[in-house]
Amino acid sequence: MFAKQKMVFNYISTNYVNFLCFLSCTEQGDITRLEVDAVVNAANNSLLGGGVDGAIHRAAGPELLEECRTLGGCATGQAKMTAAYQLPAKVVIHTVGPVWRGGDNDELALLASCYRECMRLAQQKKLRSIAFPAISCGVYGYPAEQAAEIALTTVAHCLQQDGQTLEKVYFVCFGDAISKAYNEQFARMTWNNAQNNLQR
Ligand code: APR
Repeated sequence: MFAKQKMVFNYISTNYVNFLCFLSCTEQGDITRLEVDAVVNAANNSLLGGGVDGAIHRAAGPELLEECRTLGGCATGQAKMTAAYQLPAKVVIHTVGPVWRGGDNDELALLASCYRECMRLAQQKKLRSIAFPAISCGVYGYPAEQAAEIALTTVAHCLQQDGQTLEKVYFVCFGDAISKAYNEQFARMTWNNAQNNLQR
């Protein structure tokens, strides 16, 4: 899928029914090359913004910005869908994560809401695969460990809901710190699941 990717984790959890895949990228722009139904963009409120957003816009072409201009922005914690233009993906789901301000400003709820809203839009469209960057973990400064816990637990919860069409969820981990945080969180969840299964 990626020209230069290292597959860090590819795990099938019987409890989550679906696949959760962890991709560690070493090269800028990687998420833009994923052949998935939906690529998630960590945008800003205007939807006209660097980081993963810049990479997605560069790869998708100017039509993406034109469509974003018609959307009237996006509130923090919400998500909006557009076409993907030159990207191999079918759609882009733009979501606006919270800026980290120390943790007492609703950051956790807003970040969880981003993941839920993206999953909801993907399900509404009956999509089968989606790739998330680490929303809010770049310019917006969200601590990686806390963000990884929110990302994985929220998505795992969504995957267990009835009528879920997603079969594969990719977490695109850009850089070692994010990769480490996601892998550690995933190991904790797997361990907890194993313990729960043993106790049944
Ligand atoms: N592929 C995958 N992940 C990437 C890529 C890429 N090409 N480029 C950056 N990332 C990673 C970052 O390393 C970080 O872990 O995506 C994560 C999110 O970082 P940001 O893009 O900075 O997003 P965020 O922290 O949510 O800040 C949003 O940044 O891009 C602008 O317009 C955007 O103002 C908004 C703000």
